[in-house]
Formats: sequence, structure tokens, C-alpha cells
Amino acid sequence: MSVQQEIKRLTAPDIRARKGGEPIVSLTSYHAHTARLVDKYCDVILVGDSLGMVMHGLETTVPVTLDMMILQGHAVMRGSSRALVVVDMPFGSYEASKEQAFMNAARVMKETGCGAIKVEGGRRLAETIAFLAERGVPVMGHVGLTPQAINTIGSFRAQGREEKDWGPIEDDAKSVADAGAFSLVIEAVAEPLARRITGQVAIPTIGIGASPACDGQVLVLEDMLGLSPWVPKFVKRYTDLGPSIGKAVESYAAEVRARTFPGPEHIYPMKRKDR
Ligand code: KIV
Repeated sequence: MSVQQEIKRLTAPDIRARKGGEPIVSLTSYHAHTARLVDKYCDVILVGDSLGMVMHGLETTVPVTLDMMILQGHAVMRGSSRALVVVDMPFGSYEASKEQAFMNAARVMKETGCGAIKVEGGRRLAETIAFLAERGVPVMGHVGLTPQAINTIGSFRAQGREEKDWGPIEDDAKSVADAGAFSLVIEAVAEPLARRITGQVAIPTIGIGASPACDGQVLVLEDMLGLSPWVPKFVKRYTDLGPSIGKAVESYAAEVRARTFPGPEHIYPMKRKDR
């Protein structure tokens, strides 16, 4: 093998090695511009299938397609240079068989250049995760609330809030880790359970509505920037960009109507003729 140049991006093994160490910082991004902004601060950029709801106004992530993920994954790779980019496998692209999962994951990796993929589910995916990991596809797992299952679970409610419900979620997390995933997202799970799972699995856990004890945290970028009309309890809005965007657009509309935009500094005069 001839090595063209050293890989400067963080890799799945780099993230795997962060278990119990410095917390892993992760945000979603779906565009080159936002990828450029978050790349400096994040270890992992997740091209989440939440793009279906955030970018396309869909009610759930179920209609998201592989082509949508590949298009935005490619954009995020172009906009970033340091973080590990993980692309979500959308509903229907990996559940039928381990072979289906491999063919689609390989397509995502070849066409976007991303460093890993993410799948939702626990025990039922253990064989698939092992199959992918053994064949060069780094896999991030995702347990707890799994939004792609909305039509069978019925609501986006937090999981494991009664101790009697902990067993299956713990088993899911352990199966994903034992199968060879390099990290695990835990979404909307009672805090003590997320803390316990983090102590039980050998791979880093990345919480979203889970626990500060997780090995890292992830949020949807538009949620933490205040651009989403509604956010779950677990989101902290670090800023509120919605009203400032509204104000900027209001000023633009007023200036266009008053013919004060464009001003002299925004237009091209004729070139001066040399005498
Ligand atoms: O799709 C997504 O953005 C996700 C995160 C919320 C973890 O899966």
C-alpha cells in the first residue's frame, strides 16, 4: 500500500480510544457552511437523518433516503477537514440483511468519503454491526429512543424512566458494543440508566438527553442555535438566532421596498476610460 498523505482527520479508532477520557464533542451538520463552522470545535460531525425534519420539514425521519444522506454527507465532508464525519444510515437501508447493510454503507463511504456510519437499534443489529466492522465499515450504534422506529413505538417519549424497563435497553447497548461498534449514541434515556450503561460498555457513549456521565454529547445544531420552532427538554439553546434572522430579513425587505438597497457600495459602476 502506498500512503499518499497522512490522514489529518480524527478517525473512528481515535474516538474509540477516548473511552473514559476527554469528553467527545459532537454536533450535527448537513451543509458545507455549517460543517466549516463546527469543525474547529467538534470531534465528531454527525450527518444525522434528522435532516429530514430540519431541512425538509418532514414529520419523522422515516421518509429520508440514502441519496439524501449521500448528498449532504458529501457537502459536510467538503466543508470540514478535522472532525470525524459520521453519516446516518436512513430507515430501510440496512435492516433487511447484513449484506444490504454492507452494500449501502459501502456506497455511503465511497460517495461521501465519510469515516463511519451510524445505525439505530440494539440486539437485532448485532450480527449486522459485526459484519460491517469486520469488513472495514466503522459503526456508531444508537440505542434508547430510536426515532426511525416511531411507527412502532408511537411517540418520541424518553425511555427507561422505570427501572423495570432497563433490561432490554442495557442488553441493546451491550450487544452493540460487543458486536464491534466503535461508539454508541444513547438518546432520551433516564439519567441513571445512561450513567450505568456508560459504566458497563467498553466503547464511548455519546449522550443526547442522556447523562453528563456519558463519554461525549451530541445535539442537533439548529436546535442549540435556536433555529428550530420546537425542541425537546434535553436541548439547551446556546443562542436564539431565529429572531435575529427575522430582524435581518425584515430590514432587507424594507430597504428593497424603499429602494435603499442596493446602495452605491453594492453596485458595479462602469470602468473608467483611460484618457
Ligand atoms: O439524526 C440525528 O440527528 C441523530 C442525533 C439526534 C443523534 O441521530
